[in-house]
Amino acid sequence: MTKNEPTTHGAVLPDTPVQDEDGPIVELRGAGKSYGNIRALHGVSLAVHPGKVTCVLGDNGAGKSTLIKIISGLHQHTEGDFLVDGRQVRFSTPREALDKGIATVYQDLAVVPLMPVWRNFFLGSEITKGPWPVRRLDIDTMKKTADAELRNMGIVLDDLEQPIGTLSGGQRQCVAIARAVYFGARVLILDEPTAALGVKQSGVVLKYIAAARDKGLGVIFITHNPHHAYMVGDHFSVLRLGTMELNASRDEVSLDELTNHMAGGAELAALKHELAQVRGVDVEELPEAADLTAPVSTPEGAS
Ligand SMILES: Nc1ncnc2c1ncn2[C@@H]1O[C@H](COP(=O)(O)OP(=O)(O)OP(=O)(O)O)[C@@H](O)[C@H]1O
Ligand SMILES: [Mg+2]
Repeated sequence: MTKNEPTTHGAVLPDTPVQDEDGPIVELRGAGKSYGNIRALHGVSLAVHPGKVTCVLGDNGAGKSTLIKIISGLHQHTEGDFLVDGRQVRFSTPREALDKGIATVYQDLAVVPLMPVWRNFFLGSEITKGPWPVRRLDIDTMKKTADAELRNMGIVLDDLEQPIGTLSGGQRQCVAIARAVYFGARVLILDEPTAALGVKQSGVVLKYIAAARDKGLGVIFITHNPHHAYMVGDHFSVLRLGTMELNASRDEVSLDELTNHMAGGAELAALKHELAQVRGVDVEELPEAADLTAPVSTPEGAS
């Protein structure tokens, strides 16, 4: 299905390159996006493989959301190439991305807080039974399936009847991840799933990111936090001002280096220099830039 079709001349079309079996599901090659005069993203290359977690890190305004909007079909790239299964694509709607198995879990989850957990699990894709015109919701099947799927991901909730609004932020993220897995996602994009969470809840979400990965999904994990990224990541891309500052696999970068990239070691050094001009700040007492970026406390389960 993903193989090339030769053209009438026997040559391979440039926009249908050969896709080998272990190739990436999603790939960006020198991709970028301009909003009018504003270049939000430029020259970004990224590959998402099945069973691997690709972390995208970057400061505010670095272009992380722009990147996932391209992949999830909300916006179109204005430069470079975007490939799915080795073929050039240009999605017009998120539906098209979803049809290719690309599911996105946004931080402000699209849930109905007062509806039960199982109902939210099937929101927009309800199971029905009976012939028309007496078709009705198959509540029993939906409850059982939601329960089984959540357990399958290792998520045990006391009561699926409770409104999803009563769950913690972390638990809601987990339900969204289990939902994407159930509905056949091949690529799961998570936009800062741990940003608003405490240490313990972040740990729970990281566990399900690993579970989705172990089920063979390609995960794109957007985060500000290099410690969270390093706990589950196979590949790390750091964006700065819309360009890719670092693009390295796990064996090419240590947690310290990643942290330093994220915190902007050079910028911290410059800040220290500036502070030296301010009366009353004893820069000799300040740690070196590299120390400033070292972890203050290590999240649970970190080694
Ligand atoms: N619709 C838009 N129109 C114009 N400029 C935009 C638009 N969306 C984003 N930008 C600009 O593109 C740049 C990257 O923004 P983006 O939202 O991708 O950053 P981000 O890394 O997600 O930041 P944050 O961590 O704050 O969410 C910013 O300078 C932003 O102002
Ligand atoms: Mg953003």
